[in-house]
Amino acid sequence: MATDIPRLRREIAKRRTFAICSHPDAGKTTLTEKLLLYGGALQTAGAVKARRAAVHATSDWMEIERKRGISTTTSIMSFGYADHLLNLLDTPGHADFSEDTYRTLAAVDSAVLLIDAAKGVEAQTEKLFKVCSDRGIPIFVFFNKMDRYGRPPLELLDDIEEVLGIRVTVVNWPVGMGPEFQGVYDRRRKAFHVYEETEHGKRRGSVKVGTLDDPAFVRQVGDDLHSRLSDELDLLDGAGEPFDLERIRAGELAPAFFGSALTNFGVDLLLQALIEIAPPPGPGRPLEGEPVSPDDERFTGVVFKIQANMNPQHRDRLAFLRVVSGVFETGLNVTLQPRGKKLRLTDARQVLARERTAVEEAFPGDVVGLFDPGTFRVGDTVTVDSSITYPGIPFFPPELFAMARVRDTAHRKAFQKGLTQLAEEGAIQVLRDPERMDRDPILAAVGQLQLDVFSFRLESEYRAPVQIQPQPWVAARWISGEGADASELKNGVGWTLTLDGDDRPVLLFKNSYWIDEIQKRYPNLKMSDTSGSVTT
Ligand code: G4P
Repeated sequence: MATDIPRLRREIAKRRTFAICSHPDAGKTTLTEKLLLYGGALQTAGAVKARRAAVHATSDWMEIERKRGISTTTSIMSFGYADHLLNLLDTPGHADFSEDTYRTLAAVDSAVLLIDAAKGVEAQTEKLFKVCSDRGIPIFVFFNKMDRYGRPPLELLDDIEEVLGIRVTVVNWPVGMGPEFQGVYDRRRKAFHVYEETEHGKRRGSVKVGTLDDPAFVRQVGDDLHSRLSDELDLLDGAGEPFDLERIRAGELAPAFFGSALTNFGVDLLLQALIEIAPPPGPGRPLEGEPVSPDDERFTGVVFKIQANMNPQHRDRLAFLRVVSGVFETGLNVTLQPRGKKLRLTDARQVLARERTAVEEAFPGDVVGLFDPGTFRVGDTVTVDSSITYPGIPFFPPELFAMARVRDTAHRKAFQKGLTQLAEEGAIQVLRDPERMDRDPILAAVGQLQLDVFSFRLESEYRAPVQIQPQPWVAARWISGEGADASELKNGVGWTLTLDGDDRPVLLFKNSYWIDEIQKRYPNLKMSDTSGSVTT
């Protein structure tokens, strides 16, 4: 059936697909709840937390989360606001990094960087920001918890510019702070929003909007605060970065917002900005050929993540597909590139938090969960036109290495099966000693959590308890080019040679000294800290 292109274009224009990145405790859960509350997807805030707690009680996947007080799984929330559809891809919120966080960020068109105004930029914020800025996606900065005394707003802006190295343009500015926080001033619309604090922030409070010099507002905020506000706004007008939509959409300038997720201050303005400023789904960029516009009638999408065992009753796996172009419909005959595997898409789910409903149709920017009996790989291009292959989702440089040993050799077969499946899923990278391929494998991960999840899953899903032994390596380099086959590289004081799952040579190093040393000895040796992509 021919695609209804005008309808497709309308659906694309409506969509905004984004993630919220933050350091733990900055208020991501609270902000998520408030966004859903404003979008009408939740009746009362508190439900996200409550739902998480309820799920904790039923899923053994969650056991590891409960033990560590973290959330390891990603969910997708879709909600409407002002005739638009927002897809919020929730990244796991915990101090440890896993590939999942990175991969989820590979599937969004913009990100909200949420910062606790009392703390400013924290370690995690920096790391997440880097992933977003490397991809050139627009970043919206939201300074949260303004209802408490925090750092002076101007200092927070300097912090962002200095630590993250991105220019910032202030969209709304706080009026007061702590107990005096009354609202925000929208610089673009020259409107002053005075919020009414709601009981525990559980419903949308009313907002009064007026001009800065409206006598009623001057009376409300008091002369002191009003004159300080006028001075600050003059300063921003004179010395701050002007608003520039093009630079924002190119990821060169970050619009900044102030508010309080807990008391609902400024949440509506953030949502409004996501609709007005954040870009709708953009084109796909295949390895070869022209970019594929989202309104191209050929359906294409990318599998950015595979999640297993979300439901302990079924022990199933879901492949998360981000639609890039055309209309996703159940029953489509597609090819998985670059592997050339053909299949019919039959069982698609919308994954809303952890509840799933059947999906008949989805548009660019949407994420669907595909039931995966082991068919998909992270990075697969799912397409009706086999000439289109998008670059895979990159693996991220591993920083932690450990040997995995099955505790009881009677479970060796189950161990091998689990190892193969989890590696295919992209849950962990597996390296081996080329001389002795039967030896225990070395696991390469970006954070401790990944190793914990690996060992938990091997035990709970494959009944193969493992022992994880940390290894002394701190960095991996995939090698190629002149010198890559030198026999000296096989083993040295500060390095060892391994092979990855696709038999590519990988050197593991004890410290950076040896990386430099090897490069000196073999100036033409190409060393890369990632395997490139997981699709090859
Ligand atoms: P996270 O998902 O980023 O880890 O943060 P979360 O929303 O759970 O918030 C962490 C703490 O910060 C919570 O307090 C939450 O209520 C508080 N918080 C979030 N937004 C604001 C805000 O705008 N103002 C103030 N004052 N606090 C905020 P908690 O005591 O750890 O938990 P709870 O008992 O309140 O749920």
